[in-house]
Amino acid sequence: MTESPARSQPDFDVPPEKRPRHIAAIMDGNGRWAQQRGLPRAEGHRQGVAAVRRTVEECIRLGIERLTLFCLSSENWKRPRLELEFLLRLLEQYMVEERPDLVAKNIRVSVIGRPDGIPPRVRKEMDRTLSECAGNSGLQLCLAINYGGRREIVDAVREIAQAVADGRLKPDDINEELISSHLYTAGMPDPDLLLRTAGEMRISNFLLWQISYCELWVTDVCWPEFGAEHLQQAIRDYARRVRRFGGLVQAKGCTYKS
Ligand code: IPE
Ligand code: MG
Repeated sequence: MTESPARSQPDFDVPPEKRPRHIAAIMDGNGRWAQQRGLPRAEGHRQGVAAVRRTVEECIRLGIERLTLFCLSSENWKRPRLELEFLLRLLEQYMVEERPDLVAKNIRVSVIGRPDGIPPRVRKEMDRTLSECAGNSGLQLCLAINYGGRREIVDAVREIAQAVADGRLKPDDINEELISSHLYTAGMPDPDLLLRTAGEMRISNFLLWQISYCELWVTDVCWPEFGAEHLQQAIRDYARRVRRFGGLVQAKGCTYKS
């Protein structure tokens, strides 16, 4: 019998059942990392791709089931044209160059976000990677590209409203499960842990609905320097937290008297 990857690292001290099953990440600070070193911002983005590779590999090694990465937000279109073109080219390159490795590592890739605005050339490579990885059963890697959390909710509300208008649905049928099933992430469990690099304490319109009970972990480290040791620290901190989901944790000798 082969050992599961989650059990095969004696160097990591968090037992598999205490690790998050789904990790999401806001990868921030590529530009700042480059600026601090007198390098062009593009170099920060290039190194950011290397950090994605390291994070994916460490997630596999630690037996994490899902990784959702914020690659391009619907607000990033406000950036200078040259930077956007570079980011889109990098995305296209990732889809082509990583493809054999994603297949070899049994990674299943999905994309959330709106396809509009993504050049057809890039979309073609994305689609090809998605279809070549479609039969894979290992790490579920979800890439948020041209993604905005509010826009995702707007799209879901429109679909639901249309179903009500057509008589396929009654207003009383609308509940949390139904809303979840109309989001881009339909069928995907919510993240357990949301990482953010480069120190900012905000959500930036990422997975607004899905992170309602997610644990947040922020580091000052910029994304291009993010590595296995940071991921391990985030998981260690996560494992120490008590998730109550609005309930109470039973403590010995502590009773509620009215
Ligand atoms: C994150 O790094 C990468 C993307 C949003 C594509 P930034 O480019 O936002 O880096 P900073 O925030 O300017 O340092
Ligand atoms: Mg930023």
